[in-house]
Amino acid sequence: MRALTFHGRRDVRVDTVPDPRIEEPTDAIVRVTSTGLCGSDLHLYEVLAPYIGEGDILGHEPMGVVEEVGAEVPGLAPGDRVVVPFNISCGHCWMCERQWFSQCETTQNRDQGMGASLFGFTKLYGQVPGGQAEYLRVPQAQFGPIKVPEGPADERFLYLSDVLPTAWQAVEYARIPEGGSVVVFGLGPIGQMAARIARYRGARVIAVDSVPERNAMARRHGIEVVDSSTVDDVTTAIRDLTDGRGTDSAIDAVGMEAHGSPAAKFAQQVTGLLPDAIAAKLMQTAGVDRLGALYSAIDLVRRGGTVSLSGVYGGMADPMPMLQIFDKQIQLRMGQANVHRWVPDILPLLTDADPLGVDDFATHRIPLADAPEAYATFQKKQDGMIKTLIQPKLG
Ligand SMILES: NC(=O)c1ccc[n+]([C@@H]2O[C@H](COP(=O)([O-])OP(=O)(O)OC[C@H]3O[C@@H](n4cnc5c(N)ncnc54)[C@H](O)[C@@H]3O)[C@@H](O)[C@H]2O)c1
Ligand SMILES: [Zn+2]
Ligand SMILES: [Zn+2]
Repeated sequence: MRALTFHGRRDVRVDTVPDPRIEEPTDAIVRVTSTGLCGSDLHLYEVLAPYIGEGDILGHEPMGVVEEVGAEVPGLAPGDRVVVPFNISCGHCWMCERQWFSQCETTQNRDQGMGASLFGFTKLYGQVPGGQAEYLRVPQAQFGPIKVPEGPADERFLYLSDVLPTAWQAVEYARIPEGGSVVVFGLGPIGQMAARIARYRGARVIAVDSVPERNAMARRHGIEVVDSSTVDDVTTAIRDLTDGRGTDSAIDAVGMEAHGSPAAKFAQQVTGLLPDAIAAKLMQTAGVDRLGALYSAIDLVRRGGTVSLSGVYGGMADPMPMLQIFDKQIQLRMGQANVHRWVPDILPLLTDADPLGVDDFATHRIPLADAPEAYATFQKKQDGMIKTLIQPKLG
């Protein structure tokens, strides 16, 4: 089959690789019809490159049609239409029973000291071949795949794989009080949906980004936007909008590659020049993230407010403003989305009325062969690209 494979920092290619096959009785094989390109893929493409193997297949937002199932996958049959969550979880361990699906004890990567395996996501998370491919082997298929009805286009359901549960969890974790306000940093796919969900649930939403078409998309969905490329001091601007107090909650939907953190950017670039084995070790002990968005969230949220992190961070030596976090009595919650935890809340909203506007989300639909170019375009935020769906059936 054809698949998007990793060959080094900013070097992904579409290669011919062996077809996946059933290896465990709990596996299924899915023919991928659509698969998303995610901001997390951009971290792999650049900063997290030392953790990825040459030839690893990327991608963790797939949906498609079941081709084959193992002997212990009673709920699925060939022909079923499914979305595959990016967490690989068993559904029956101690963590899964408590709905901490991203911490599944069956697929946890204990040798790496990390949580549940994820599709297409580095050696830290199991090095499981990902979904930007024509076919995908789905481990723990007795639990993972979400069956969806025939009829509507893929993009009605595809965002259940990652974007919508991640954004939903971001909003839950933000604990916005009844009638309260939230600031969302970053208007990539995660920030867009977090903003829409918070608004749908009745909050006042103010969002911050500097990319014109991302800001325009948010405004189209009734979000107040502060354009950080034109406003001198974002924090003051938003305080002015909130009686000088700041918002009740803040969501960081940016992560480790935030703009405006020059020292950490330099450290990340230095790591990029080292051989992978050394760089990976160094990042696990002395790695630094670019914390610009997180600092802004801490600074801006009102006293006693809640900060919710969806943006992914990976450094172990980040200097955090602990004094300020403590003094302001801020609550921080973070982590990979526990996808299945939120699916029952989200699925009923994926109707023709489309309250979350999933039909106005994807900006690009491309064949697999164009995926390497799309990574470069997405990283540079060119061509109005916000959310890209790779659709192998397009050729
Ligand atoms: N927790 C999870 O389960 C989970 C799941 C999916 C994605 N993520 C993470 O969420 C983050 C966002 O993903 P995405 O797909 O939306 O990515 P993206 O890269 O498309 O979006 C990030 C946005 O942040 C903006 N930005 C950069 N620095 C900023 C700053 N200082 N202030 C305000 N905005 C700033 C950028 O202009 C960009 O629009 C990434 O870190 C990704 O890895 C987490
Ligand atoms: Zn993703
Ligand atoms: Zn489990």
